This record gives sequence, C-alpha cells and structure tokens, in this order.
Amino acid sequence: MTPARFVTFEGIDGAGKSTHIDAVAQRLRQGGATVLCTREPGGTPLAETLRELVLHSTMDALTEALLVFAARRDHLQQVIVPALARGETVLCDRFTDATFAYQGGGRGFDAAVLAQLESWVHGDLQPDLTIWFDLPAVTAAERRAAARAPDRFEQQGVAFFDRVRGGYEARMKAAPQRIVRIDAALDREAVWQQIVSALESRQW
Ligand code: TYD
Repeated sequence: MTPARFVTFEGIDGAGKSTHIDAVAQRLRQGGATVLCTREPGGTPLAETLRELVLHSTMDALTEALLVFAARRDHLQQVIVPALARGETVLCDRFTDATFAYQGGGRGFDAAVLAQLESWVHGDLQPDLTIWFDLPAVTAAERRAAARAPDRFEQQGVAFFDRVRGGYEARMKAAPQRIVRIDAALDREAVWQQIVSALESRQW
C-alpha cells in the first residue's frame, strides 16, 4: 500500500503551479495512491468563507495571518489530517510557507509570531514535500497581466512579489530537504520534467 503523503505547491501569483497539480495527482494515482486535491486558504466551507474575506476585504497583516491560520486549522482538522490517517496522499495548493512568504515577506509581518501560530495550528506536522515554483516577480507580473480580475494580492506590485519570493527562499533555506525549488520561468514541459525528477528522487 502507498504510504500517506502530504505534498504542497507554492510560488508567487503567476508562477503557473495550478496547471501542474492535476498532472501530479494523475501520476501518483497511476502509482496506486488515493489522492485528494485541496487548496489554501480554503478546503472546507468555513475556510472558503475566510478565503473570500482574506482575498477581498481590507485588513492589516496580523488579521490576514490570523484568518489564514484559522482557515488552516479547520482545513487540517476536517480534511487533511483525516485523509492522511486513512493513508491517502494530500496535494494542497499552498500551505503555511505561503503565510511566511506573503504575510511575512510580502507584508513584512513578524516571522517569530508566524512561527508561534504555525506551532499552535499544526505542531510538528509539515508537508513531506513542497514544490516551490520560483520565477522572477517581473516575469510573473507579465503572465498575470493576461489573467482575470486581480484579488488583493494579485494587485500588488513587483516589489511586493520580490519580497514574497524572498520569503519562500528563506523557508527553503530553513528546510532544504522538504522544499524543492523548480525553475518556473522555463516552458511548461521543462517545468514538468523538474517536478518528475523531484518525485522520482523520492521513488514516488
Ligand atoms: P491562489 O492560491 O493563487 O489562488 P488562485 O489561483 O485562485 O488565484 O490565491 C490565493 C492567494 O492567497 C494568493 O495570492 C496568496 C494568498 N495567501 C496568503 O497571502 N497567505 C496564505 O497563507 C495563503 C495560503 C495564501
């Protein structure tokens, strides 16, 4: 039987991660895993309600951090932890690294407070693997220009996303075994090949 696995996907808005999550799910299913795809903020009715507020209402960085962690707590309790306990593979589009990157790096909020919230909300539970789609903020902005109406984060400028990128880099340096950096500036096939290598290096 395939062991339970928790995989998260991260990157600045416009990095192109969403298009690859389904492909990872398909590959892991072919390998025999039962796969559950979910996202943050969100993944439960309560957390999706909180997502709407975070994405569209004006608030300060602490409020943002508290709401994303509240959403995460509900998501963990209702969905992620039970699925892992059933031996399933959980693929989550963003998780706590996004809070360190966006609220910490982007908004400049105190990382020590975020670390305290992280430990309250999920203790020792961390993803088994995090795939970080990294690309320059300028390239991501060009990709986003063609997309739909921007939310509160997508409206931010290149300097904000440069700081978010720095937040992800700091998280990767603190957990290099868990977080794999993918060069997301390359074309789709080259990005996919890097993901396949990350999975194969774990015999997944
Ligand atoms: P995103 O995951 O990019 O969804 P979509 O593809 O539908 O735009 O949007 C979620 C936004 O929420 C993104 O801009 C990052 C932000 N976010 C935070 O600021 N903190 C967090 O902890 C999480 C999970 C997301």
